[in-house]
Amino acid sequence: MATDDLIQLTDVTKSYHQHTVLHDVNLTIKTGEFVAFVGESGGGKSTLLRLIAGLEPATTGQLMMDGRSINGLNTVARVMFQDDRLLPWMTVLENLSFKSRDMNEKVRAQELLDLVQLHDFANYYPNQLSGGQKQRVALARALMASPKLLLLDEPLGALDALTRSRMQELIADIVDQENLTTILITHDVREAAKMADRIVAIKHGTTGLTVPGHRHQTDEMAMIAVANEVQEFILSD
Ligand SMILES: Nc1ncnc2c1ncn2[C@@H]1O[C@H](COP(=O)(O)OP(=O)(O)OP(=O)(O)O)[C@@H](O)[C@H]1O
Ligand SMILES: [Mg+2]
Repeated sequence: MATDDLIQLTDVTKSYHQHTVLHDVNLTIKTGEFVAFVGESGGGKSTLLRLIAGLEPATTGQLMMDGRSINGLNTVARVMFQDDRLLPWMTVLENLSFKSRDMNEKVRAQELLDLVQLHDFANYYPNQLSGGQKQRVALARALMASPKLLLLDEPLGALDALTRSRMQELIADIVDQENLTTILITHDVREAAKMADRIVAIKHGTTGLTVPGHRHQTDEMAMIAVANEVQEFILSD
C-alpha cells in the first residue's frame, strides 16, 4: 500500500444467501481523490459503498482504510444518501448539532451552514425547506464530524437539472476546501466525468472499466467524450 493510498480493497466479494452481488473487486483510492462509481441499476454500487462505510461486512476479501482493516463502522467516513434523512422534529441547526451544549459544535454547525449557503435557515424545520436546501443540510450534517471520507450515494438524483448543477459545483468546492476523499455514486455519466478524478464502472458485479475523469478541467468536449465512453461500456453486453 503506497503512503498516499487511503482505501485499498483486495479480492472483495459480497453475497446475500446464494446471490453473489460483488466479486473480484480490487480498488485503491488515494487520499484526496474523487472517484465516481457508475453502472447499471442493481449492479452493486450501493453495496460496495456500504462495505467501505463499514455498514456491513464483505463476504470475503480485505478492505483497508488508512492502513487498518475496516472492521465494523468506518468512523472516519460519512454517507449522504438520495433522501436527506433529516429528523423532521428538529430544526436545521439541531439536525447538525443534536442540541449539543458544546459551543465548538455549534460554531462548527454555523460554519457549515455558511458553507452550504444556508446561514439564514438555521431555525427552519426540514418541511419548510426545498429539496435542494434539504440536501444541503444533509451535506452539512455529513461534514459535521470532519470525516476523511465522504460517501455520496446518488445525493442529487431527486433534484431538478438547475439545482443539480448548482449542487455539483457546491460539492466540488466543499470537497476542495475540506480536502475530502470522495466517492460519488451517480447514474449521470456526465456528472461523473465532470466531478471525478477517476470513474469506475461497475458491471457484472465487478469493477469493469476505470477511466480518468475531468475534475478541475475545463475541456467540455473531452469530458463528454469520456462520458460517452463510459456510457457505451455500461450499455454493452
Ligand atoms: N440486504 C440485502 N439482502 C439481499 N440482497 C441485497 C441486499 N442489499 C442489496 N441486495 C442485492 O444486491 C444487488 C445490488 O444492489 P445495490 O443496491 O448495491 O445496487 P445499485 O448498483 O446501488 O443499484 P441502483 O443503481 O439501483 O441503486 C441487488 O440485486 C440487490 O437485490
Ligand atoms: Mg444504489
